[in-house]
Amino acid sequence: MPKFETIKGVLFDLDGVITDTSVYHEQAWHALADQLQIDWQPQFAEQLKGVSREASLAVLLNATGHPDAYSAEQKAQFATEKNDRYLALLQQLSPASIAPGMTAFLTELKAQDYRIGLASASKNAPFVLERLGLSDYFQARVDPTTLHKGKPDPEIFSRCAELLGLQPAECLGIEDAQAGIQAINASGAVSVGIGAKDVLAAAQIRFETTAELTLANIRQQLK
Ligand code: BG6
Ligand code: MG
Repeated sequence: MPKFETIKGVLFDLDGVITDTSVYHEQAWHALADQLQIDWQPQFAEQLKGVSREASLAVLLNATGHPDAYSAEQKAQFATEKNDRYLALLQQLSPASIAPGMTAFLTELKAQDYRIGLASASKNAPFVLERLGLSDYFQARVDPTTLHKGKPDPEIFSRCAELLGLQPAECLGIEDAQAGIQAINASGAVSVGIGAKDVLAAAQIRFETTAELTLANIRQQLK
């Protein structure tokens, strides 16, 4: 584990870390599954976290056992329907939806000159940050449409570090998803998991909730 002093930047996941939009993603996928008469399996919730819209749809359609029964046009239509439902749920988003302790943590990072980047797979990320009023904290954001591979591939975190002018090893990556923690570990950044131990066993550092995210608590765990 690198020393706390080598850390110069923080790479943030968005959904499920900065705000609890992961529950809205889940609700919107669940509704699509019901519409397509696909049995919603409890493990879908964790499997779909951090995974792109298209890859998430593939997970659902694979569960039918005949994913090729749908044309490319139908698949595009399903992805649009899911996104429309998700966007409708986002209407309730406001600064009150920021995860506990997150504004204080971002403020602390900024005050201490850490570089701050966004490594979200979501094409809706700019809209979500805007609704939360947090856009100005982020010096760099990866555009997920430019990626060759999604999480668990490390590309998004390597790119985010590069955009900040840092090596991944100089960064913390913060994630709530298994695929995200795998991606951070593979990039060489230090993985910080937010959530339950059984789900995020691969995280190098872990906190139950964002309320515990402070530089002092991170320093403690990096010893
Ligand atoms: C990730 C979410 O942040 O973004 C996934 O964890 C989601 O659940 C993915 O599928 C893509 O989001 P969007 O907004 O582009 O459909
Ligand atoms: Mg997430």
